[in-house]
Amino acid sequence: NGGNKVDKIDRFSINNIRKEYLNFFKSKGHLTEQSFSLIPKNDKSLLLIGAGMAPLKKYFTGAEIPPAKRMATCQKCVRTGDVENVGLTARHLTFFEMLGNFSFGDYFKNEAIVWAWELLTDVLKIDKDRLWVTVYLEDDEAENIWHTKVGIPMEKIVRLGKDDNFWELEVGPSGPCSEIYFDRGADKGCGKEGCTVGCDCDRFIEVWNLVFTQFDRQEDMTYLPLKSKNIDTGMGLERLACVMQGVDNIFEVDTIRSVLNHVCDISGTKYGSDYKKDVSIRVITDHCRSASMMVS
Ligand code: ALA
Repeated sequence: NGGNKVDKIDRFSINNIRKEYLNFFKSKGHLTEQSFSLIPKNDKSLLLIGAGMAPLKKYFTGAEIPPAKRMATCQKCVRTGDVENVGLTARHLTFFEMLGNFSFGDYFKNEAIVWAWELLTDVLKIDKDRLWVTVYLEDDEAENIWHTKVGIPMEKIVRLGKDDNFWELEVGPSGPCSEIYFDRGADKGCGKEGCTVGCDCDRFIEVWNLVFTQFDRQEDMTYLPLKSKNIDTGMGLERLACVMQGVDNIFEVDTIRSVLNHVCDISGTKYGSDYKKDVSIRVITDHCRSASMMVS
C-alpha cells in the first residue's frame, strides 16, 4: 500500500542512511564530526579532498593528537580521476559523500569488520546473500575474521592483489584493505563468462572499503610503518543508497534524481528515452553537483 511505500523511501533516503550510519558509530564510542571542507588545509599533496581520511591524515601519522581515538564522519569528496566514467557507468560520480569510521591506534581489523557487517545487515537490513567480500592477497587474518566470526562462506571471500586491495594516496597513511561488494544481479552485469567480484561492469558494486592503515607512504614510494595500527573506512553514501533503494543507476537515488529532474525541466528533455541523451543528462547532473559543492 501507499503508506508502506512512503515509509520505505524515507527509511532508505540518503538523509536517513547518513543519520543511521553516524548514530551507529556513535553507539560504538565514536566522536562524530561534520564534513570538513573540500579544500585541503596544510596539505600540499592534494588539490581537493577525495576521501574521508584525507583531512585526518595528521592523526594517522601521529603529527597531531586526535580529539578522540574513534571518529566517524560523512565527508564531502570530489574525485576528478573518475570523471571519464561519469554518466557511462551506473556507479560513478565526481562529487560524493563518504561515510567513514576511523580508529587512531585503537580498534583494528576485528571490530572494523564485525561492525561493518552488523551495520549493513542488522541495522540497514541489506540481504546477506547478496554481499561478497575481498581481502588483500596475503591477509589471512582478515579472511579468517570474515569466515569464522562473521560466517561468510569461503567461496564468497575473494583474494585480490595490490591494485584492488591496497589503499594509498601519493603520500601518507596507507595499508591493505578489505572491500564489501553488493551483487545487483545478473541482469545488471556484462554477462561475460567469468564475471565476478572485481569485474569492471555494474553487477558487483563495491560499497565499502575497510583499510587497515599501517604504513606511511613517502614521496620516494617507500613505506614506513606507522607507530600504531589504525582503521580508515569509506563507504559511498550515494552508492549505498542506490543499492538500498533498488534503483538502476546512482543518478536515480532520491537527492540526485531531483537535480536530474531539474536538468530535464530546464533543458526540455526527457530522461530514459534516448541512451545518448541520458548520458549527457547524467554528466550535466554530476557536474552541477560537483561545481556547486566546490563553489560552496
Ligand atoms: N580511504 C579509503 C577510500 O577512500 C577508505 O576508499
